[in-house]
Amino acid sequence: MVIIAVEELKVSIGGRIVISEATFAIREPSLVVVIGPNGAGKTTLLKTLIGLIRPVRGCIRIFDSIVKPGSKYPKSVRKLIGYMPQRDVINYAAPLTAREIIVSGLIENISVPRILLPRDSNDMVLQIAQRLGIESILDKFFDELSGGQQQKVLLARALIKDPKILILDEPLSNVDEISRVEILELLRDLVRRDGKTVMLVTHDVEIAMNWSDYVLLVNNGRAVLYSSKMVEDVDKFLRHYPEKDRKIIPSRSPYCA
Ligand SMILES: Nc1ncnc2c1ncn2[C@@H]1O[C@H](COP(=O)(O)OP(=O)(O)O)[C@@H](O)[C@H]1O
Ligand SMILES: [Mg+2]
Repeated sequence: MVIIAVEELKVSIGGRIVISEATFAIREPSLVVVIGPNGAGKTTLLKTLIGLIRPVRGCIRIFDSIVKPGSKYPKSVRKLIGYMPQRDVINYAAPLTAREIIVSGLIENISVPRILLPRDSNDMVLQIAQRLGIESILDKFFDELSGGQQQKVLLARALIKDPKILILDEPLSNVDEISRVEILELLRDLVRRDGKTVMLVTHDVEIAMNWSDYVLLVNNGRAVLYSSKMVEDVDKFLRHYPEKDRKIIPSRSPYCA
Protein backbone atom coordinates (compact mmCIF):
# COMPACT_ATOMS: atom_id res chain seq x y z
CA MET A 1 0.00 0.00 0.00
CA VAL A 2 1.31 3.42 -0.91
CA ILE A 3 0.71 6.06 1.76
CA ILE A 4 2.72 8.90 0.27
CA ALA A 5 4.79 8.70 -2.89
CA VAL A 6 6.33 11.34 -5.04
CA GLU A 7 7.88 10.73 -8.39
CA GLU A 8 10.28 13.02 -10.21
CA LEU A 9 8.76 15.98 -8.46
CA LYS A 10 9.97 19.44 -9.42
CA VAL A 11 8.86 22.57 -7.55
CA SER A 12 9.66 26.22 -8.27
CA ILE A 13 9.03 29.33 -6.20
CA GLY A 14 9.09 32.69 -7.94
CA GLY A 15 10.67 31.12 -11.01
CA ARG A 16 13.51 29.57 -9.01
CA ILE A 17 13.71 25.79 -8.81
CA VAL A 18 13.67 24.74 -5.17
CA ILE A 19 13.11 21.01 -5.61
CA SER A 20 14.64 19.73 -8.83
CA GLU A 21 14.04 16.02 -8.41
CA ALA A 22 12.34 14.24 -5.56
CA THR A 23 11.34 10.59 -5.72
CA PHE A 24 10.38 8.49 -2.74
CA ALA A 25 7.63 6.28 -1.38
CA ILE A 26 6.34 5.53 2.09
CA ARG A 27 4.47 2.24 2.07
CA GLU A 28 3.66 1.45 5.69
CA PRO A 29 2.73 3.57 8.71
CA SER A 30 6.03 5.23 9.58
CA LEU A 31 7.68 8.05 11.43
CA VAL A 32 9.63 9.95 8.82
CA VAL A 33 12.08 12.62 9.90
CA VAL A 34 12.72 15.27 7.25
CA ILE A 35 16.15 16.77 7.65
CA GLY A 36 18.39 19.10 5.65
CA PRO A 37 20.06 22.50 5.73
CA ASN A 38 18.19 25.81 6.05
CA GLY A 39 16.62 26.88 2.79
CA ALA A 40 16.94 23.39 1.31
CA GLY A 41 13.24 23.24 0.51
CA LYS A 42 11.81 21.16 3.37
CA THR A 43 8.87 23.49 3.95
CA THR A 44 8.33 23.83 0.21
CA LEU A 45 8.18 20.05 -0.17
CA LEU A 46 5.68 19.67 2.69
CA LYS A 47 3.49 22.46 1.31
CA THR A 48 3.53 20.76 -2.07
CA LEU A 49 2.46 17.49 -0.49
CA ILE A 50 -0.63 19.15 0.99
CA GLY A 51 -1.49 21.15 -2.11
CA LEU A 52 -0.48 24.65 -0.97
CA ILE A 53 2.11 24.79 -3.75
CA ARG A 54 1.63 23.32 -7.22
CA PRO A 55 4.47 21.27 -8.62
CA VAL A 56 6.00 22.10 -12.01
CA ARG A 57 6.60 18.50 -12.95
CA GLY A 58 6.23 14.96 -11.60
CA CYS A 59 3.46 13.73 -9.39
CA ILE A 60 2.35 13.07 -5.84
CA ARG A 61 0.37 10.06 -4.79
CA ILE A 62 -1.52 9.98 -1.49
CA PHE A 63 -3.08 6.53 -1.03
CA ASP A 64 -4.94 6.01 -4.33
CA SER A 65 -5.16 9.64 -5.40
CA ILE A 66 -2.70 11.09 -7.86
CA VAL A 67 -1.91 14.80 -8.09
CA LYS A 68 -0.17 16.09 -11.21
CA PRO A 69 0.86 19.64 -12.17
CA GLY A 70 -2.28 20.37 -14.17
CA SER A 71 -4.72 18.72 -11.80
CA LYS A 72 -6.54 20.32 -8.90
CA TYR A 73 -5.54 19.03 -5.47
CA PRO A 74 -8.50 16.90 -4.30
CA LYS A 75 -10.29 18.09 -1.16
CA SER A 76 -10.78 14.43 -0.21
CA VAL A 77 -6.99 14.04 0.01
CA ARG A 78 -6.51 17.21 2.03
CA LYS A 79 -8.92 15.75 4.60
CA LEU A 80 -6.58 12.82 5.15
CA ILE A 81 -3.71 15.07 6.19
CA GLY A 82 -3.19 17.04 9.38
CA TYR A 83 -0.73 19.87 8.83
CA MET A 84 1.21 21.89 11.35
CA PRO A 85 2.97 24.91 9.88
CA GLN A 86 6.31 26.16 11.14
CA ARG A 87 5.59 28.05 14.38
CA ASP A 88 7.39 31.22 13.32
CA VAL A 89 5.08 31.79 10.35
CA ILE A 90 1.93 31.65 12.45
CA ASN A 91 0.59 35.03 13.35
CA TYR A 92 -2.85 35.27 14.89
CA ALA A 93 -4.48 38.58 14.13
CA ALA A 94 -6.81 38.31 17.12
CA PRO A 95 -5.88 36.71 20.44
CA LEU A 96 -7.26 33.17 20.42
CA THR A 97 -7.43 30.61 23.18
CA ALA A 98 -5.84 27.19 22.89
CA ARG A 99 -9.31 25.68 22.52
CA GLU A 100 -10.20 28.01 19.65
CA ILE A 101 -6.99 27.22 17.84
CA ILE A 102 -7.54 23.48 18.21
CA VAL A 103 -11.12 23.74 16.91
CA SER A 104 -9.93 25.80 13.95
CA GLY A 105 -8.30 22.59 12.70
CA LEU A 106 -11.78 21.54 11.64
CA ILE A 107 -11.85 24.35 9.12
CA GLU A 108 -9.20 25.13 6.58
CA ASN A 109 -8.15 28.65 7.46
CA ILE A 110 -6.02 29.03 10.58
CA SER A 111 -7.00 32.66 11.27
CA VAL A 112 -10.79 32.60 11.08
CA PRO A 113 -12.87 34.95 13.20
CA ARG A 114 -13.96 33.42 16.51
CA ILE A 115 -17.63 33.55 15.54
CA LEU A 116 -17.11 31.02 12.73
CA LEU A 117 -15.64 28.30 14.90
CA PRO A 118 -17.80 25.18 15.29
CA ARG A 119 -19.64 25.18 18.63
CA ASP A 120 -20.32 21.53 19.30
CA SER A 121 -16.75 20.34 19.31
CA ASN A 122 -15.96 20.31 23.04
CA ASP A 123 -15.80 16.54 23.37
CA MET A 124 -13.43 16.18 20.46
CA VAL A 125 -11.18 18.90 21.82
CA LEU A 126 -11.16 17.40 25.28
CA GLN A 127 -10.29 13.94 24.01
CA ILE A 128 -7.29 15.19 22.06
CA ALA A 129 -6.26 17.58 24.83
CA GLN A 130 -6.21 14.67 27.28
CA ARG A 131 -4.01 12.62 25.02
CA LEU A 132 -1.60 15.54 24.84
CA GLY A 133 -1.91 16.47 28.51
CA ILE A 134 -3.09 20.03 27.83
CA GLU A 135 -6.63 19.96 29.31
CA SER A 136 -5.74 22.56 31.91
CA ILE A 137 -4.59 25.19 29.44
CA LEU A 138 -7.48 25.06 26.96
CA ASP A 139 -8.90 28.42 27.98
CA LYS A 140 -5.60 30.25 28.11
CA PHE A 141 -4.56 32.56 25.34
CA PHE A 142 -2.02 31.11 22.95
CA ASP A 143 0.43 33.94 23.63
CA GLU A 144 0.49 33.09 27.34
CA LEU A 145 1.69 29.55 26.76
CA SER A 146 5.23 28.19 26.82
CA GLY A 147 6.90 27.05 23.59
CA GLY A 148 6.19 23.41 24.37
CA GLN A 149 2.54 24.09 25.21
CA GLN A 150 2.09 26.11 22.02
CA GLN A 151 3.47 23.29 19.91
CA LYS A 152 1.18 20.80 21.66
CA VAL A 153 -1.81 23.03 20.91
CA LEU A 154 -0.81 23.21 17.25
CA LEU A 155 -0.33 19.46 17.21
CA ALA A 156 -3.80 18.99 18.70
CA ARG A 157 -5.11 21.27 15.96
CA ALA A 158 -3.47 19.08 13.32
CA LEU A 159 -4.96 15.98 14.97
CA ILE A 160 -8.55 17.05 15.44
CA LYS A 161 -9.75 15.74 12.08
CA ASP A 162 -8.22 12.36 12.97
CA PRO A 163 -6.07 12.39 9.83
CA LYS A 164 -4.26 9.35 8.47
CA ILE A 165 -1.16 11.42 7.78
CA LEU A 166 0.43 14.11 9.95
CA ILE A 167 2.78 16.59 8.30
CA LEU A 168 4.58 18.65 10.93
CA ASP A 169 6.97 21.47 10.12
CA GLU A 170 9.50 21.82 12.95
CA PRO A 171 7.08 20.78 15.72
CA LEU A 172 9.95 20.46 18.22
CA SER A 173 11.57 23.85 17.88
CA ASN A 174 11.24 26.05 20.97
CA VAL A 175 10.23 23.03 23.00
CA ASP A 176 11.84 22.09 26.32
CA GLU A 177 13.43 18.67 26.67
CA ILE A 178 10.57 17.10 28.67
CA SER A 179 7.84 18.24 26.29
CA ARG A 180 10.01 17.17 23.38
CA VAL A 181 10.12 13.59 24.60
CA GLU A 182 6.39 13.69 25.41
CA ILE A 183 5.60 14.85 21.88
CA LEU A 184 7.90 12.26 20.30
CA GLU A 185 6.37 9.49 22.40
CA LEU A 186 2.90 10.57 21.33
CA LEU A 187 3.95 10.64 17.67
CA ARG A 188 5.48 7.20 17.96
CA ASP A 189 2.27 5.98 19.55
CA LEU A 190 0.21 7.50 16.74
CA VAL A 191 2.30 5.50 14.27
CA ARG A 192 2.52 2.21 16.17
CA ARG A 193 -0.92 2.11 17.76
CA ASP A 194 -3.11 4.22 15.49
CA GLY A 195 -1.40 3.35 12.21
CA LYS A 196 -0.86 6.95 11.21
CA THR A 197 2.09 8.15 9.19
CA VAL A 198 4.01 11.12 10.58
CA MET A 199 6.42 13.32 8.65
CA LEU A 200 8.25 15.85 10.76
CA VAL A 201 10.96 18.37 10.07
CA THR A 202 13.70 18.80 12.62
CA HIS A 203 17.30 19.93 12.66
CA ASP A 204 18.07 17.55 15.48
CA VAL A 205 20.18 14.64 14.30
CA GLU A 206 19.65 12.79 17.61
CA ILE A 207 15.92 12.73 16.94
CA ALA A 208 16.47 11.45 13.41
CA MET A 209 18.72 8.74 14.80
CA ASN A 210 16.62 7.65 17.78
CA TRP A 211 13.03 8.10 16.71
CA SER A 212 12.62 7.75 12.97
CA ASP A 213 11.76 4.78 10.79
CA TYR A 214 12.95 6.73 7.76
CA VAL A 215 15.04 9.81 7.17
CA LEU A 216 14.05 11.99 4.23
CA LEU A 217 17.11 13.99 3.36
CA VAL A 218 16.43 17.24 1.51
CA ASN A 219 19.51 18.79 0.00
CA ASN A 220 20.70 20.32 -3.28
CA GLY A 221 17.22 20.27 -4.73
CA ARG A 222 16.74 16.58 -4.10
CA ALA A 223 14.78 14.61 -1.52
CA VAL A 224 15.97 11.09 -0.86
CA LEU A 225 14.49 8.57 1.56
CA TYR A 226 16.69 6.33 3.69
CA SER A 227 15.69 3.63 6.09
CA SER A 228 16.95 4.53 9.56
CA LYS A 229 17.71 0.88 10.28
CA MET A 230 20.35 0.97 7.60
CA VAL A 231 22.02 4.07 8.91
CA GLU A 232 24.21 3.40 11.93
CA ASP A 233 25.42 6.89 12.46
CA VAL A 234 23.01 9.47 11.08
CA ASP A 235 25.31 12.31 12.04
CA LYS A 236 28.20 11.03 10.01
CA PHE A 237 25.79 10.03 7.29
CA LEU A 238 24.38 13.55 7.07
CA ARG A 239 27.76 15.21 7.13
CA HIS A 240 28.76 13.27 4.04
CA TYR A 241 25.46 13.89 2.27
CA PRO A 242 25.36 10.49 0.67
CA GLU A 243 25.74 9.88 -2.99
CA LYS A 244 23.07 8.65 -5.33
CA ASP A 245 24.45 5.10 -5.39
CA ARG A 246 23.77 4.65 -1.67
CA LYS A 247 20.13 5.39 -2.19
CA ILE A 248 18.12 2.44 -0.99
CA ILE A 249 14.70 3.34 -2.30
CA PRO A 250 14.59 2.88 -6.08
CA SER A 251 14.32 6.11 -8.02
CA ARG A 252 12.05 4.88 -10.79
CA SER A 253 8.82 3.41 -9.51
CA PRO A 254 5.40 3.21 -11.10
CA TYR A 255 3.65 5.00 -8.23
CA CYS A 256 1.95 7.54 -10.40
CA ALA A 257 1.25 5.47 -13.49
N1 LIG B 1 7.34 32.64 -0.44
C1 LIG B 1 8.58 32.57 -0.93
N2 LIG B 1 9.03 33.49 -1.82
C2 LIG B 1 10.29 33.41 -2.32
N3 LIG B 1 11.17 32.45 -2.00
C3 LIG B 1 10.79 31.53 -1.13
C4 LIG B 1 9.47 31.53 -0.54
N4 LIG B 1 9.39 30.46 0.28
C5 LIG B 1 10.57 29.84 0.23
N5 LIG B 1 11.41 30.46 -0.61
C6 LIG B 1 12.78 30.05 -0.94
O1 LIG B 1 12.76 28.68 -1.28
C7 LIG B 1 13.88 28.02 -0.72
C8 LIG B 1 13.42 26.88 0.16
O2 LIG B 1 12.75 27.40 1.29
P1 LIG B 1 12.09 26.46 2.38
O3 LIG B 1 11.27 25.44 1.69
O4 LIG B 1 11.40 27.35 3.34
O5 LIG B 1 13.37 25.78 3.04
P2 LIG B 1 13.54 25.03 4.44
O6 LIG B 1 12.19 24.79 5.00
O7 LIG B 1 14.29 23.76 4.10
O8 LIG B 1 14.38 25.92 5.30
C9 LIG B 1 14.69 29.08 0.03
O9 LIG B 1 15.73 29.50 -0.79
C10 LIG B 1 13.68 30.17 0.27
O10 LIG B 1 14.33 31.40 0.34
MG1 LIG C 1 11.25 25.37 6.73
